[in-house]
Amino acid sequence: MANITFSSPVMAKDVTVYAVAGDRGTILAVAKAHKIPIPFDCQDGECGSCLVQVEHFNPKAKSAVALTEKEKEVLRQLGKITKDEIANAEVNDVPPRYRLACQCFVRNEDIMVRFEGDKTLP
Ligand code: FES
Repeated sequence: MANITFSSPVMAKDVTVYAVAGDRGTILAVAKAHKIPIPFDCQDGECGSCLVQVEHFNPKAKSAVALTEKEKEVLRQLGKITKDEIANAEVNDVPPRYRLACQCFVRNEDIMVRFEGDKTLP
């Protein structure tokens, strides 16, 4: 079971949802299913609208990080990922701070997902 807590200034309070196996999909899919207002547009890893910050509550439980070339490129263009973070993700499975919600699949781990609602995350 994965607990996903969504936090954003555009929401009155944080919301935690439970994504059970077989019902996971991407962070964006889970957010949409629970009416969490993460902005999105292309839903295909190209526009960067769905940028989110992802924190792992139990860093030891990290599993392989699946970053596609497309996601890496968009995060790079947005200035939200460094070469070191990419290398760390690919070699050591250390998740980068930022992800595209439409490209990031929910795993069996508890995470905090923060978003601003207008691409202005610090
Ligand atoms: Fe366009 Fe996710 S909605 S990159």
